[in-house]
Amino acid sequence: MIDLLDGLARRLLYALDPEDAHRLAIRMLQFAPMPPQPRDDRRLAMRVFGLNFANPIGLAAGFDKNAEVPDALLRAGFGFVEVGTITPLPQPGNSRPRLFRLDADVAIINRLGFNSDGADTVLRRLAARARAGGIVGINVGANKDAADRVADYAHLIERFAAVASYVTINISSPNTPGLRDMQQSRVLDDLLARVIDARERAAPQAGSTPILLKIAPDLSLADLDDVVGIARARRVEGMIVGNTTVARPAQLRETEKAKEAGGLSGRPLLPLADRMLAETYVRVEGVFPLVGAGGIDSGASALGKIRAGASLVQVYSGLVFRGLSLLGEIKRALLAALDRDGAQNLGDYVGSDAAAVTAEPWPTGFPRG
Ligand SMILES: Cc1cc2nc3c(=O)[nH]c(=O)nc-3n(C[C@H](O)[C@H](O)[C@H](O)COP(=O)(O)O)c2cc1C
Repeated sequence: MIDLLDGLARRLLYALDPEDAHRLAIRMLQFAPMPPQPRDDRRLAMRVFGLNFANPIGLAAGFDKNAEVPDALLRAGFGFVEVGTITPLPQPGNSRPRLFRLDADVAIINRLGFNSDGADTVLRRLAARARAGGIVGINVGANKDAADRVADYAHLIERFAAVASYVTINISSPNTPGLRDMQQSRVLDDLLARVIDARERAAPQAGSTPILLKIAPDLSLADLDDVVGIARARRVEGMIVGNTTVARPAQLRETEKAKEAGGLSGRPLLPLADRMLAETYVRVEGVFPLVGAGGIDSGASALGKIRAGASLVQVYSGLVFRGLSLLGEIKRALLAALDRDGAQNLGDYVGSDAAAVTAEPWPTGFPRG
């Protein structure tokens, strides 16, 4: 069952429209029994944001937007699952088609636009599984036509803190017009101040829920200076680097699909995502940990992400192309590296290549940061 999305099942999913295939994958996870995986090797364990992760590989936001299958995904072997993006009110997102697979590039373009069942429905689902354990992060966003977007984030934190292992503030999706402008200093400072107030208001019931900021890989380095400065000053618990890119590197082979508007993810994103992660790592100076996302589709790319500065990694597009067997492959590769290097745990690798990555030429095909 672990190979649910592999072989035959994956060929079937490939034959479908990408969004129908995604819906079917969720259904399969809901209804196909998923036997628990063997315990992870203890050398894969990481303690981050005060939480104990059995392994550092998470499912990135956007796969289980409405918290329909977090437990099936945890049983499949993820160290953590990030559900969402959730918006306060239900909203349909953009019109279809809005999800495109660039097979020749091992990449995806999406412009879903925060299609969400809304906070009430998702909160009910999460409350029902609250005792199940496992690390489930909740990624929150603003409704498209919200009058006060900052208030949407604050509201969601207050409501979800009690059922969240951590909350991610997503201000980096390219598909809600103006959302990424919230990464600008003045707006971001106000946002984080109000978000942290909301967390404090929820704390008597919920405890102190870690707050993570998820950024776009398209920020300029000057903007990244500001974002990291504010995140440090406001004492967030971590950052996720990062979301999809609006860039279209010239080397993409699927030239027609590459013209579709939206965020690009998958293999072509890896060099930019690793560079921005390393740039963030050197600016954060160890004050808080980072989660690395973007372009992981092998053991080597996961280890590279950790070396570039990630304490934890997340995958999405790689799963679409490789299936759940990617998880086992990454775990085996990480353990093989530990054996080879005589290292005790993965902490030894975190950021070990960050300085070297920032010294490389800027990744080919992406506008200079
Ligand atoms: C179809 C799709 C939907 C996504 N939806 C969200 C989302 O709702 N919220 C979010 O923060 N990121 C979302 N993402 C971005 C992923 O979480 C991740 O940051 C990005 O895809 C890079 O990782 P990858 O190259 O492994 O896919 C989405 C990505 C894809 C492909």
